[in-house]
Amino acid sequence: MPKRKSVNEIMAMKAAGAKITMLTAYDASMAAMLAGCGVDVLLVGDSLGMVVLGYDSTVPVTMDEMIHHAAAVRRGAPGAFVIVDMPFGSYQSDGRDAILNGVRLLKEAGCDAVKVEGGLEICTTVAGMVAAGIPVMGHIGLTPQTASQLGGYKVQGRDLESARKMMEAAKGLQEAGAFGLVLECIPEQLSRLITEALVIPTIGIGAGVHCDGQVLVTNDLLGMFEKFVPSFIKTYTSLSPLIRENVTRYAEEVRNGTFPDSAHSFSAQVDFAAIIK
Ligand code: KIV
Repeated sequence: MPKRKSVNEIMAMKAAGAKITMLTAYDASMAAMLAGCGVDVLLVGDSLGMVVLGYDSTVPVTMDEMIHHAAAVRRGAPGAFVIVDMPFGSYQSDGRDAILNGVRLLKEAGCDAVKVEGGLEICTTVAGMVAAGIPVMGHIGLTPQTASQLGGYKVQGRDLESARKMMEAAKGLQEAGAFGLVLECIPEQLSRLITEALVIPTIGIGAGVHCDGQVLVTNDLLGMFEKFVPSFIKTYTSLSPLIRENVTRYAEEVRNGTFPDSAHSFSAQVDFAAIIK
């Protein structure tokens, strides 16, 4: 098993010009598979809410749900660097709540770091968490927890004023001690400028090729989430039709008695008739 990376090693990848690979994981078996493929960082994203738990947004996701799934990811991939999203409401009220909830994720889920959404308004909170010993990754641009305030799931930073604000947020989060930053759904020219302005790595999703790393929702990459697929998602394969086809075959074989056949059954050299009185 490869040695688990440290925060410093993740940060050093930027200086070394090595792109960081990050993918979401929500359960032990997928976490083991992704880690086995050499993915640098597993993110237990609060996309969990939409991809796995059937919510309409990430807003309803709770701390207990994040811990439940993150602990499974940790068990499945003990050698992976695991970041867990702090769900909506777990860090916005005050710095004390943020620290207590961040500590829960580190202690109860065994993760290496947490991720929080927001700009300058959360910098004091981030600084407090980092001072308490919690490694924090920021997330700016399209922030799904507050998507309704942003006018929906839209590209952000398309005009000079919002781009300037985003640059300030990026620098503020770095100053507050964040060790990395997710940039979601922003123009590639802006993500390039932000990436060049920071010493901490940027991880892009819908933010172009100039980021220091990339993240995707694994279920999107594998074509297993069909509710909506944004244009910046590259679907590397389409597992949904394959799953449907094979599950349909299984159901047919059970119904017509061709599964299980003798190759998938046990037999014994005993006259079991003796047990019938
Ligand atoms: O929740 C999530 O999966 C995320 C990624 C899309 C960055 O935050």
